[in-house]
Amino acid sequence: MDSRISARALAAALGGWRSSEPVYEALADAIRLLCLDNRLPAHTALPAERELAAALDLSRTTVAAAYRSLRDTSHIRSVRGSGSVTLPLARRDPGTRRAMADAIDLQQASPPAWPGLAGVFGEVATRAASLVARSGYDVVGQRALREAVAERYRERGIPTDADEVLITSGAQSAIHLIASVMLGRADRVLIETPTYPHAADAFRQAGGRLVAVPVTTEEGWDLDRAEQAFARTLPVLAYLMPVFQNPTGRTMTPHEADVVARAAERAGTVLVIDETTGELAIDGGGAEAFADHDDVIRLGSLGKTVWGGLRVGWVRGPREVLQRLAAARPVHDLGTAEFEQAVALALLPRMTEIIAQRAGHLRTGRDALVTALARTLPSWTVPTVEGGLSLWVELDAPLSSPLVIAARARGLYLSAGARFAVEGGHDRHLRLPFTAPADELVRAVDVLADVWPGVLAAAPLSRLERLDALV
Ligand SMILES: Cc1ncc(COP(=O)(O)O)c(C=O)c1O
Repeated sequence: MDSRISARALAAALGGWRSSEPVYEALADAIRLLCLDNRLPAHTALPAERELAAALDLSRTTVAAAYRSLRDTSHIRSVRGSGSVTLPLARRDPGTRRAMADAIDLQQASPPAWPGLAGVFGEVATRAASLVARSGYDVVGQRALREAVAERYRERGIPTDADEVLITSGAQSAIHLIASVMLGRADRVLIETPTYPHAADAFRQAGGRLVAVPVTTEEGWDLDRAEQAFARTLPVLAYLMPVFQNPTGRTMTPHEADVVARAAERAGTVLVIDETTGELAIDGGGAEAFADHDDVIRLGSLGKTVWGGLRVGWVRGPREVLQRLAAARPVHDLGTAEFEQAVALALLPRMTEIIAQRAGHLRTGRDALVTALARTLPSWTVPTVEGGLSLWVELDAPLSSPLVIAARARGLYLSAGARFAVEGGHDRHLRLPFTAPADELVRAVDVLADVWPGVLAAAPLSRLERLDALV
């Protein structure tokens, strides 16, 4: 069934949208951005023109012109009498990105493949005859791979049996499976804001109601809010990234982890700990969180350490939970390809070497990005991060969405801060992944520095002041 967004919710999602003249085109652009980064999924019914006009304090003619512009670019379809609906992405933006030869895509924080990966594919391919003699996929994962994953947990001081590991097709598939099995309609899910948006989407799609707890790179987790949220809403699940949180890069202190663990226990909440970015330490070290809590569900993946194209992840959790997940899995996924599992099995013993190479790559990108930002955009606040994939940069005005729109026109593709928000907001922040090559990152910052003064100048002062008062 199609979903519907209310005028109020759309107005909130639009944030500081008045980036340029004419106003109707600025509104259309801001709605396009929501479509592009999936904050307005395809087949969402938009509010009636009159309602949106009232919510945004605009004339109905302006909203009608914005909707007309969106129809002209095939972002929405309007049917007389039944309103306007967003259209699927594939029908829009035909090839514009490819058409721009020097386009830079920083929408995804995906590091390039570990350089030795092609060699490992080759090695495994020499054993292809025995692999293709079998079914080639399975719902729980090969025993040898589950054992190897369990061994890595044991090395970290977390006693684990192969039976406590389920291999999935990447961590995203694991999140989706957990959401669909463990959540009932209107169950609460405690989640950080900002967060990894595809997790938030999966919990929402499964019927969960998200309860947001703020986290910042400088201050960490808002423990008062977390304790209140656990106590008041009794969430069924809490989805957390305690080590190199995506996108802030922040790691929980032992005190923070302790407060969260105790509040979760009192509320009867199952902790879902996503460690997909947890091994991405840049400056050495690394951290453990909840290591002595055996009842948490942990998620891992080779997507960020090795390559996003290797669709191998896993869940470590209590056996009865894994049994429920395995039983429910075939509806949307019959298992993880055995070829990829064999590649993963060959990679796991080499993880120390792989992670060291990854740290070097991320260090180069982070340092290039930090230096370029300090040189060209000194009014932005750039946090210090010791790991992860991105900088959660604070702008000196809540204009992340107009900035992203302006950058797109110059061939730089980014996601606005609001994409990572759980209940709106984060218009003052921009996620800048440092996974791309250093020269691309420097070019990206040059584009941002070029367009930022224009974005600031185009924003009506009164709206900026109003938004400032809210953040
Ligand atoms: C925190 C987090 N969890 C899970 C995923 C998905 O990982 P995978 O590629 O293994 O599905 C990502 C990918 O961006 C991520 O950042």
